[in-house]
Amino acid sequence: MVGFGRVGTICAEALLDGKDLVLAAVVRRRDSLAHALPKAFCTIPVVAHVAQVQAVEGALLCVPQQQVLDAAHECLQHGIPIVESSVLHGEAFQAYREAIHRLALRHKVPAIVGAGWDPGALSLFRSLFALLAPEGFTETARRVGVSLHHTAMAQQIAGVKEALCTEQRATNGRRHRYVYVELEQGVNADRVIDAIRADPLFLGDETLVFPVESIAALEQEGRGVLLERRGSPGRLGHQQFLLEARFDESLLTAHMMLTAARALPQLNPGAHSLLDLRLSALWGDQQGKAEREWL
Ligand SMILES: NC(=O)c1ccc[n+]([C@@H]2O[C@H](COP(=O)([O-])OP(=O)(O)OC[C@H]3O[C@@H](n4cnc5c(N)ncnc54)[C@H](OP(=O)(O)O)[C@@H]3O)[C@@H](O)[C@H]2O)c1
Repeated sequence: MVGFGRVGTICAEALLDGKDLVLAAVVRRRDSLAHALPKAFCTIPVVAHVAQVQAVEGALLCVPQQQVLDAAHECLQHGIPIVESSVLHGEAFQAYREAIHRLALRHKVPAIVGAGWDPGALSLFRSLFALLAPEGFTETARRVGVSLHHTAMAQQIAGVKEALCTEQRATNGRRHRYVYVELEQGVNADRVIDAIRADPLFLGDETLVFPVESIAALEQEGRGVLLERRGSPGRLGHQQFLLEARFDESLLTAHMMLTAARALPQLNPGAHSLLDLRLSALWGDQQGKAEREWL
């Protein structure tokens, strides 16, 4: 583990609980060495440089974006495979990947790049949606708590305890409305969804209704994403895919980095993105079980 910030701490905690991966050491800035790690890590060596760590099979780079390339260089030149999750997209990601690729080839070590939430897990969803509907367009709306507001209309529907709403304008100019409802106990969710969608106030807009357990918790959570892929109408019919997610981004990033680390032993030298990895390799020794459960 390199860097003990938000993502690093979550990775380290998960490693303490994990069975197939073991935390060998934490690499920290010199200034941070004086600050002891939480008690649970008292047996874990804390060092200032990766060269001080013996026999490791991979390093999770959890340092700020600007420091990742240097940290990657240090690990790779010491023969340590890396996993990182820099928040870069498009051309910037390609250029960065190429830089890591050259280093990784020079030192004959594998590297996994962009293995967080976005880029990372969300990239896999985006890619799969586009494979399923090759002709079409994708929209990603980041939902921040602030954009959610109460909606008196939805709250008047029988069975709705609380409701929040947000709107997004699609690229074709059409307004999409996303309504989150907390229902009274025993209420039929489909009936409420139909009632909200049929309300004259919402007619003309594309309205999607999501029942949630707690509106108060949703307001607190703040972060989320709506990823939508609409296939163009045509020979393949009109396909539509929607991913609605609420999450802690640091937690998902840490989880994805650990998941990716399981694939390191099977990789050739060079840089690999999540799209290059075999999905089954991410399951490690759970591969057989995952195949039985999810295929
Ligand atoms: N792909 C995604 O969706 C996604 C999402 C979130 C984060 N990330 C990436 O994950 C990485 C870690 O993010 P984070 O939120 O955990 O960052 P953070 O909370 O700021 O922690 C970074 C840690 O890196 C260490 N560090 C080393 N050099 C540093 C420097 N010059 N200035 C400040 N800290 C330095 C520090 O740990 P020590 O004090 O122990 O040295 C610090 O606590 C970043 O590269 C970020 O881009 C990706």
